Amino acid sequence: MREPNDLSAFWMPFSNNRGFKQAPRLLAAAEGMHYTSSDGRSILDATAGLWCVNAGHCRTQIVEAIRETAARFDFGPTFQLGHPLAFELASKLGMIMPEGLDRIFFTNSGSESVDTALKIALAYQRARGQGSRTRFIGRERGYHGVGFGGISVGGIVGNRRQYGTMLGGVDHLRHTHDLARNAFSRGQPAHGAELAEDIERLVALHGADTIAAVIVEPVAGSTGVLVPPVGYLERVRELCKKHDILLIFDEVITAFGRVGKATASERFGVTPDIITMAKGLTNAAVPMGAVAAGRHVYDTVVENAPEGIELFHGYTYSGHPLAAAAGLATLAIYEEERLFEKAITLEAYWADAVHAMKDLPHVIDCRNIGLVAGIEMEARAGAPTKRAMEAFHRAFDSGLLIRVTGDIIALSPPLILEKTHIDEMFGRLADILKAID
Ligand SMILES: Cc1ncc(COP(=O)(O)O)c(C=O)c1O
Repeated sequence: MREPNDLSAFWMPFSNNRGFKQAPRLLAAAEGMHYTSSDGRSILDATAGLWCVNAGHCRTQIVEAIRETAARFDFGPTFQLGHPLAFELASKLGMIMPEGLDRIFFTNSGSESVDTALKIALAYQRARGQGSRTRFIGRERGYHGVGFGGISVGGIVGNRRQYGTMLGGVDHLRHTHDLARNAFSRGQPAHGAELAEDIERLVALHGADTIAAVIVEPVAGSTGVLVPPVGYLERVRELCKKHDILLIFDEVITAFGRVGKATASERFGVTPDIITMAKGLTNAAVPMGAVAAGRHVYDTVVENAPEGIELFHGYTYSGHPLAAAAGLATLAIYEEERLFEKAITLEAYWADAVHAMKDLPHVIDCRNIGLVAGIEMEARAGAPTKRAMEAFHRAFDSGLLIRVTGDIIALSPPLILEKTHIDEMFGRLADILKAID
């Protein structure tokens, strides 16, 4: 006999299904900086859900925009048709992107944004008569979602090994994580810009005329907050330009104020050819992603194409009215409350709190940028990830939501947080680190 509240039917993503279902931890509601668990406890959200609820939970303006739109205009196709909400959001989004990256393609997630960006890169190369450029260069420890394109350019073995040969013609740069030289860096680490020279190595190996694009996260999030070394992104940009290779920044977590500007590109002063986004775009209230392409990319693919459909790609829900309405309301909040600047105004206070964890048991690195922190713990001998998982469970049970990846604690709170929340987060975290063995 099935029970309506049976936990067995939902095959949970990126989860230890068996472990969870034996000891479920359920969220029931959310508001502002907090979740409420199903047993009625208030849980301070130190991760903005999954790096996505940048304006805090259940914002009235967003809820009302969704409600009003759902009642008036539930769905409208965007294949050979359109509706004003999608055009308006694209225009607004284009205005906050770096100069020139104002041609917007809508998707429904970060993974779809990545695969869309890769396809746009291939279409661009072909349209300009460089059809031999089909190769992609990703980076070790990169996370670009879970589509076949994304896992192929991504660099996380756990996400790849179950899935065969994936996309052909992909190579990887080395990652920039270097505890020997950079442990406990505040902000951008000093060492590692030279790792960008891997592009030269791969160009020498494969030939520039076979490479369509390089894709990197400006700050790698999912593998534990890897902040770009000083000068690294600049050098990546230079080398892509030198070899006429497109540069894609995957900004699914860094866009929308996470590092103190609309995009990490703006924060670091390095402009790619294509930016992928999702998460903070709608404050996660309705799934939506987007790709911002440079005018040169759009014009090459679209303006120079023969009459008819220019790019054979799109999703039924590209530019969905509810997502577009949520996106517009979200961008309005970011602007009204100047939330993008929040990560700059609070950055020093946040960094002090992060680096105060330095001498706690097990901690081998603390790193930060904007309102992001990575606290790396030494793995238990023979039991990697177990210590971090214990920290996660203890945190949840004590009323704090953190995120763990490997043996790294990653923090990325909603941008509405106040100093008192920072004190509370790190006070609790310190207690947890002292309590675990
Ligand atoms: C950099 C990056 N790219 C892509 C994705 C995939 O996004 P989604 O889970 O919405 O498909 C993520 C998700 O965390 C991400 O951090």
